[in-house]
Amino acid sequence: MTTSEIRQKYFEFFQKKQHALISSSSLIPENDSSLLFTNSGMFPLVPYLLGEKHPAGVRLTNSQKCFRSEDIDDVGDGRHNTFFEMLGNWSLGDYFKEEQLNWWFEFLIEELGFDINKIYQTVYVGDGKNIVKDEESIQILKNIYKKYGVEAGEGPETTTKGDEGPGVELDFFKDRIFAYRDKNWWQRGDAVGELGGPDSETFYDTGKKHDPKFGEHCHLNCDCGRFIEIGNSVFMQYQKTVDGWKELENKNVDFGGGLERIVMIKNNLSNIFKIDSLGSIVDRLENISGLKYEDNKKAFEVIADHIKGATFLLGDDKGLSPSNTDQGYIIRRLIRRAVRYLKQLKIEQQNLISELSQVIVDFYKDSYSELNKNRNFILKAFNEEEYKFNKTIEKGERVLNSLVEKGEKINGEIAFNLFQSHGYPLEMTLEIIEEKNISKSDNFLEEYNQALNKHQKLSKTASAGKFKGGLADQSEETTKLHTAAHLLLEALRRVLGDHVSQRGSNITAERLRFDFSHPEKMTDEQKKQVEDLVNENIQKGLKVNCSEMSLEEAKKMGATGVFESKYGEKVKVYSVGDFSKEICGGPHVESLENLGVFKIQKEESSSSGVRRIKAVLL
Ligand code: ALA
Repeated sequence: MTTSEIRQKYFEFFQKKQHALISSSSLIPENDSSLLFTNSGMFPLVPYLLGEKHPAGVRLTNSQKCFRSEDIDDVGDGRHNTFFEMLGNWSLGDYFKEEQLNWWFEFLIEELGFDINKIYQTVYVGDGKNIVKDEESIQILKNIYKKYGVEAGEGPETTTKGDEGPGVELDFFKDRIFAYRDKNWWQRGDAVGELGGPDSETFYDTGKKHDPKFGEHCHLNCDCGRFIEIGNSVFMQYQKTVDGWKELENKNVDFGGGLERIVMIKNNLSNIFKIDSLGSIVDRLENISGLKYEDNKKAFEVIADHIKGATFLLGDDKGLSPSNTDQGYIIRRLIRRAVRYLKQLKIEQQNLISELSQVIVDFYKDSYSELNKNRNFILKAFNEEEYKFNKTIEKGERVLNSLVEKGEKINGEIAFNLFQSHGYPLEMTLEIIEEKNISKSDNFLEEYNQALNKHQKLSKTASAGKFKGGLADQSEETTKLHTAAHLLLEALRRVLGDHVSQRGSNITAERLRFDFSHPEKMTDEQKKQVEDLVNENIQKGLKVNCSEMSLEEAKKMGATGVFESKYGEKVKVYSVGDFSKEICGGPHVESLENLGVFKIQKEESSSSGVRRIKAVLL
């Protein structure tokens, strides 16, 4: 069965159980600055899990595009990927454990034909304090197994963190249900207000032999790869308060299933890089290079995963580009790592990564039409980034070679500086050192890490206290510039068009730096118009007003700004006369009377599709 067929089957199954099919949200979270990417199906649904009414009803299903940057370094073991689809079904205070567990098994066993003998299940052991062991799920699961002809016992509990399991030999023939503590409590984050609850994970026994490298005894959460997690039913029934977890009024279900892994098992494959989606890149790569995936697993997996991930991030309707910060930096890293692994395999074909990205666009174009719509943007971004990276490499190699010519021993600090100032990766420095038989210092890696730590400490110091609403401090000068930034955004939108949105700002007492989306360089005429518009309004001495309202009301009245209303709390809208309305935490001046004269000093590119203005008040 193909990825599309399985996805479709899941939708139809839950639609038959009265679930409304909703579309995947963007990979870039909205109204939530707490993480870079949507990394599970429940993220976009938080307000509804908290009780807000969802327009589609109380039973929902979808397949959510997810990206987990923390898994970048795990890619290469045959089962991890950074981008994946999470099949989801939700009960918003409607059905609970009984229906959820029965339906999920019904889907796996009756719809997909999975072998019940290979399915294992974990449940929550309780926190040892207020939240009790999930006996209810254990009973439901025993009945489900029985329904499918299996007598399922409960094995020994794990009350430690969980990586080691219960620490005894387990009888996987007799026992199928195992209770864990940390591993079976799901929460989105640690802040007050976050949602959480016990969960029950489903594992598939791949039959692989246990590798004692991962511990003496195998268990369901063992990392040896024998048991692979394919789905998680979270019983989302608590909310974090200052003194612990309190029960929510609504008992919700948040289910997430790994589509790629399910496709792999359904097709009897040993690894996700053999399924149709990722396999399409692997096949193309084999054809182009004449190399075999089986002989170059890690490199092939990194290349396929990273190209697929970057394609989805670039193809998102929020239009991200490679850059040196935040989400853009992750895209840059994915593309550069893919190029680096291609080089390692000695596949040096220009624009190959963009060609491979097209394989992904074609594969997914019916399910994720935004990829097709943004096809050219994706292609261009890959090519430009490859070009830039090659330049970086050339420069780094020049610097490295000249050091070698001067007879300098290469130490870790030099390697770090190459990375820091030229973006030249450590791995490449090491490769060249090896290839050319260059002498390197004995403590090379320690020196590298020391330099890296020192740099990180310095940059942490530099950024501490910088981000109070993007302001360096709260002096009168910065407050004035902050208000000027609101005028600037509105003026840009009036002169250049409504496509302009703010992409970040940084304000010190001396100047204002402002990033905004716009595809091309501004003309002198446009800059002049923007300045004039800002200054006209300053001269009118407009008053600045602040009012609080819901996010919806703010959107309705046409306020611009970064929407950050995680739990539906009210937002502040600052209005400058009738000219500008913007959602913002403040602070601002009360009137424009003493603001001064606004002057644009520089307009330049910040990253692809994003311009940067530096301006002052004279
Ligand atoms: N939110 C749950 C997870 O990500 C389903 O595992």
